[in-house]
Amino acid sequence: MTERTTEPAAPHEPVVVVVAGALYDGGRLLAARRSAPVELAGRWELPGGKLEPGESPEAALVRELREELGVDVEPGERIPGEWPLKPGYVLRVWTARLLSGEPRPLEDHDELRWLSRSELDSVDWLDQDRPAVAEAARWLPAP
Ligand code: C5P
Repeated sequence: MTERTTEPAAPHEPVVVVVAGALYDGGRLLAARRSAPVELAGRWELPGGKLEPGESPEAALVRELREELGVDVEPGERIPGEWPLKPGYVLRVWTARLLSGEPRPLEDHDELRWLSRSELDSVDWLDQDRPAVAEAARWLPAP
């Protein structure tokens, strides 16, 4: 019998969950422009990052937004839906409210903008974030 050194490709590989925040303050939504990697640089996203093993999505969101933006947030409800990223990765989005701090682009981003509902199309969102942003708009006041 031969020993396997690597596992065969499983039919149901666990996916890596990327948690992003639809962060609201004063009736506007925060958009973050990526500075890396090169293929994503210049495009806008809802800030967030990968869930660590054993971490709840809400805890991951609080951690990521503290690391990337230097703010404390309170996670709210999950925005319905799940969007594929690169193979093996999915994006899930939670609403969040700013508790303290003014967001600054500390990590992975080089510009931030607070957008009202009528300004949402003014930035070049990453393709995979567009449906999430369309859903996130429902939490913004009508213009
Ligand atoms: O930020 P981080 O590198 O941990 O994100 C993991 C992956 O998820 C990256 O490929 C990033 O581009 C992607 N992502 C995304 N949309 C977001 C947040 C992350 O496509 N809103």
